[in-house]
Amino acid sequence: MNIPCYIVFLAAVHVQAGSSNAQEPPVELHLLLKTISKTPLNPSFLSVTIDGSLASEPKYIAFLGSQKLITLTKGLSPAFLRFGGTKSDFLFFDPTRNSSVEENITWSRPGKQDVCKGSDVHSSEQQKLWALWPAQEQAILKEDFYETYKNATITKHTIDLLYRFAKCSGLHLIFGLNALVRNKNAHWNSSNAKLLIDYCDSKKYNLSWELGNEPNSFKKKSGVYIDGSQLGKDFITLHDLLGKYRRYKTSGLFGPDIGQPKKSSQKMLQRFLKAGGKAINSITWHHYYVNGRTASVEDFVNSDILDTLSSEIKTVLKIVNETVPGKAVWLGETSSAYGGGSPGLSNTYIDGFMWLDKLGMSAKLGIDVVMRQALFGAGSYNLVDSDFEPLPDYWLSLVFKNLVGSIVLNATTKSSNHVKVGNIRVYLHCTNINNHKYKAGDVTLFALNLNNYTQEMKLPSFLSGKFVDEYLLLPGDGGLLSTTVLLNGQVLKMVDEKTLPDLNGKQLLPGSSLTLPSMSFGFFVVKDVMASDCL
Ligand SMILES: *[C@@H]1O[C@H](CO)[C@@H](O)[C@H](O)[C@H]1NC(C)=O
Ligand SMILES: *[C@@H]1O[C@H](CO)[C@@H](O)[C@H](O)[C@H]1NC(C)=O
Ligand SMILES: *[C@@H]1O[C@H](CO)[C@@H](O)[C@H](O)[C@H]1NC(C)=O
Ligand SMILES: *[C@@H]1O[C@H](CO)[C@@H](O)[C@H](O)[C@H]1NC(C)=O
Ligand SMILES: *[C@@H]1O[C@H](CO)[C@@H](O)[C@H](O)[C@H]1NC(C)=O
Ligand SMILES: *[C@@H]1O[C@H](CO)[C@@H](O)[C@H](O)[C@H]1NC(C)=O
Repeated sequence: MNIPCYIVFLAAVHVQAGSSNAQEPPVELHLLLKTISKTPLNPSFLSVTIDGSLASEPKYIAFLGSQKLITLTKGLSPAFLRFGGTKSDFLFFDPTRNSSVEENITWSRPGKQDVCKGSDVHSSEQQKLWALWPAQEQAILKEDFYETYKNATITKHTIDLLYRFAKCSGLHLIFGLNALVRNKNAHWNSSNAKLLIDYCDSKKYNLSWELGNEPNSFKKKSGVYIDGSQLGKDFITLHDLLGKYRRYKTSGLFGPDIGQPKKSSQKMLQRFLKAGGKAINSITWHHYYVNGRTASVEDFVNSDILDTLSSEIKTVLKIVNETVPGKAVWLGETSSAYGGGSPGLSNTYIDGFMWLDKLGMSAKLGIDVVMRQALFGAGSYNLVDSDFEPLPDYWLSLVFKNLVGSIVLNATTKSSNHVKVGNIRVYLHCTNINNHKYKAGDVTLFALNLNNYTQEMKLPSFLSGKFVDEYLLLPGDGGLLSTTVLLNGQVLKMVDEKTLPDLNGKQLLPGSSLTLPSMSFGFFVVKDVMASDCL
């Protein structure tokens, strides 16, 4: 672990958010209350993943029995729960194996009527798992580092626990099937997938499917090269197989979960879409800004690095438009830093700059769903840590879910000399009105200040008579590397393991400017705007 490095970097970036009171003239906000997307975002726009590596030893899936984790996850509903990742292409389903160990580590016998009731992992068993987890986590990260993956077995119980977790949290499960089971002729062998689908069908599980993870690097991970067009045909095979089940005839199928669109991956995506595009409901690709093993504090607040996402999105959208125009495009697995995240950075307040900017930019450019790697598991990029404690990005996601609706409007800042272009980043959506706190026609602005001084922003004059609710997220103790976050000055924490805190805005009077302290981000709900595209 590279903890000493942070200390060095701390000196370079002034990590105390809000520490400076330098006065700069306000930035003028340019807000166009006209939607810029053809269709609203998916209601599950902000979604999450569980990495397949959590099942490399079946027993650890029992973590998902935690009531606290279920409560936290429920806060993010509606959302997809994608179970996938590199390890998924090394998992084999064995319906005959009785997984005695994991079956012992389970929650108190659920009543037949409601599987979500009375449902915690026995605390003694949980303690046992916890004690073993650090070693298991190291083993998982080591496999990733050396890119040498061992096959592993999953059981009926693995599927049950995963499905129950998704269901009890109000999430829709997407299961990533193993695409590396191959016949001699290099075609995908669906026999193991069929056993798994049969089992899900017998349990009446309602879920969706993927096949394979980052096929562009199959060669590196397993020595097997699969051409994009072959993978497309494999998806047709899976689509036909699903078509044989009444339950799965119309279930979702997503892919190809391609990695970053470098030249060779672009070609693979093109060939895949030509051969198999018609079999899938949405196109998935993956994005990370930086390598977790070498990332620095500065990277996380560097507007040039944040901007790199835009050209990658445009590259993918162009390929899609040329092959299967109109099909939805998803970031099927994404986080700030790959390789499990960057310890001390990905799990602290500073990660929020990359996460929030990614959400804003993706929505603005036409990405339909963004799946955060990961909700929970090995590594440091999770929303919830292995003690089931929510990290700053969890709270950021929760505030986003609560305030940001699925119709995207257009916000920009009027450039002026003193502001580094890109250091004040603003996004505008119709407000989410599902929680009845706000009315149709209200709009939510969210904004990031990457400067090391306080920045005021001025609403355009046609909005200057409106009341605004401010939701300012600042780091708790420890500056930008804090593992806690303040909402309008209050530390966000769970009330108890079944209750999330209320998220309360602070009302600003009409005419107030919106203030973002040095290196911070926040949300501003402008009320009674009656924006016609939001009605
Ligand atoms: C499972 O639990 C039962 C009863 O508590 C115990 O007798 C058994 O040894 C346990 N099995 C394993 C594999 O831990
Ligand atoms: C697919 O895999 C199964 C299980 O390993 C095997 O029995 C079967 O022969 C394979 N199918 C083909 C066409 O090779
Ligand atoms: C299955 O889940 C999807 C997605 O949540 C939902 O739209 C559909 O109605 C569900 N089907 C059944 C039969 O419950
Ligand atoms: C999509 O492709 C069509 C035809 O090739 C082209 O006219 C259109 O401008 C493209 N749209 C985008 C958003 O690239
Ligand atoms: C958003 O507004 C800016 C500035 O007014 C404009 O240049 C840009 O084209 C708009 N974007 C969209 C997608 O309409
Ligand atoms: C802000 O950053 C600039 C450039 O990195 C640096 O020169 C200046 O001292 C910093 N100011 C504060 C108040 O941290």
